[in-house]
Amino acid sequence: MRKPLIAANWKMFKTPAEATAFTNEFLPLVAAQTHAEIVLCPSPTSLPTVVAAVAGTGVSAGAQTMDYHDNGAYTGETSPVMLNALGVSHVIIGHSERRQYFNETDTTVNLKLKAALAHGLVPIVCVGEHREERESGKTNDVLKLQVSIALEGIDPAAAKPLVIAYEPVWAIGTGLTATPEMAADAHKFIRAEIAAALGAEIAASTRILYGGSVKPDNAAALCALEDIDGALVGGASLEPASFASIVLNSAV
Ligand code: PGA
Repeated sequence: MRKPLIAANWKMFKTPAEATAFTNEFLPLVAAQTHAEIVLCPSPTSLPTVVAAVAGTGVSAGAQTMDYHDNGAYTGETSPVMLNALGVSHVIIGHSERRQYFNETDTTVNLKLKAALAHGLVPIVCVGEHREERESGKTNDVLKLQVSIALEGIDPAAAKPLVIAYEPVWAIGTGLTATPEMAADAHKFIRAEIAAALGAEIAASTRILYGGSVKPDNAAALCALEDIDGALVGGASLEPASFASIVLNSAV
């Protein structure tokens, strides 16, 4: 009932020409698969290129962040209205690198989530604990706070498109992944928090992705878990064959 979503977060990599080289090679590799939805999230300068390349293929284009205002004097920012105008369908919100380097907070995540839903964008809201938080037994406290503030004031009737990504910060770009047990526990806990905020029906239909050093060789084991509904992939999404393997291996 929850169709897996496999998302590529290219971070600050790939010029438009490099994005084109990627899509030329990647799209044929996944053309025959139907089990998962795929979204490519390039930097803003490559969004138009990627939107054009994926048109009609079933693959989607997403932004890595956005502002929550429709327009205004916010130098450097991109609004949901602008993403709509480009034909972008998804947006990552609250990635830990945005939280760490660009002042993203649980409160701005909440505002951005509301803006994304209001503008018909599929939001991929990232949550996850730091290493010290896990080691001191605070993982669930952190997840509870992040999820509950993100979902504050969200109308369950409008929350159908919501996607959450559980990304333990210590697993991002480090080659470390959560063990299947850690991921299963966290995803279960997050689903219960979604139920507390938005009701059981939305919790049951919300996709919860795992992110943090997902590679072709661990995608299958992670995606086989009951509460894991896909992956948010950084490093291993930069290379077409590697990302295509993750998509194909995630079929369970
Ligand atoms: P990684 O990044 O796959 O390189 O660990 C994941 C992410 O930051 O979304």
